[in-house]
Amino acid sequence: LAAAQAPQDLAGLRVVVSAGGTREPLDPVRWIGNRSTGRQGVALAQAARARGAHVTLVAANLEASVEGCADQVVPVESTAELRQAVRAAATDADVVVMAAAVADFRPAAPTGAKIKKVAGQGPAPIELVENPDILAELVRERLRPGQTVVGFAAETGDATGSVLDHGRAKAVRKGADLLAVNAVGAGRGFGTPDNEVWVLDAIGDQVAHVSGTKRQVADVLWDAVLKTRG
Ligand code: CTP
Ligand code: CA
Repeated sequence: LAAAQAPQDLAGLRVVVSAGGTREPLDPVRWIGNRSTGRQGVALAQAARARGAHVTLVAANLEASVEGCADQVVPVESTAELRQAVRAAATDADVVVMAAAVADFRPAAPTGAKIKKVAGQGPAPIELVENPDILAELVRERLRPGQTVVGFAAETGDATGSVLDHGRAKAVRKGADLLAVNAVGAGRGFGTPDNEVWVLDAIGDQVAHVSGTKRQVADVLWDAVLKTRG
């Protein structure tokens, strides 16, 4: 649907969407990052805006264009910056969607000067420390009363369980109102146009399943958000 034709069923809602992937500096010219392009987050912002929401997009190193997809775009690079921007916007938001791929760990001591290789010496090990879990904080603190908090999880199946098994366990562990579980790997997920997503509630029950474009996934997720909010 074109923006003008979309139902205005999110009108009056203020939503925050984080998108992209955080980069954790090692030195002024290097970082540790991930493959997230931000396209799913941008699609979520676009869909919400088309349906009448006021949208703040916290944009971490996006490859996708953000042209016209939000009322406000806040560019960030690191997890610390993303956390600060999301929390600031969340204080008056009805819905926060953490679609960004947040680095779990960051270099313990990024250097102010470029790291040099020294002849005859091998590489120095990189010490990492854990980042705060922004989603867990949002769930715990509910920065605005009645706020709906939504997480994303990119999962692959492995010997210990399927994509959905891992998703259910994570939904329960995270306690977000909704967790969108995205199947990745083998040509799916990162950087591809089509997604398969299960939407789970806080106790891991499936509330929606969708296979389609990131825009279709986004619309199904917003439908689930509306249902959750009653
Ligand atoms: N997330 C977050 N802060 C972090 C890590 C993750 O807010 N430090 C959010 C992501 O934006 C996403 C959700 O938590 O919405 C799930 O991220 P994921 O990486 O799947 O969960 P983890 O608990 O980090 O588990 P895993 O060990 O599988 O990486
Ligand atoms: Ca993680």
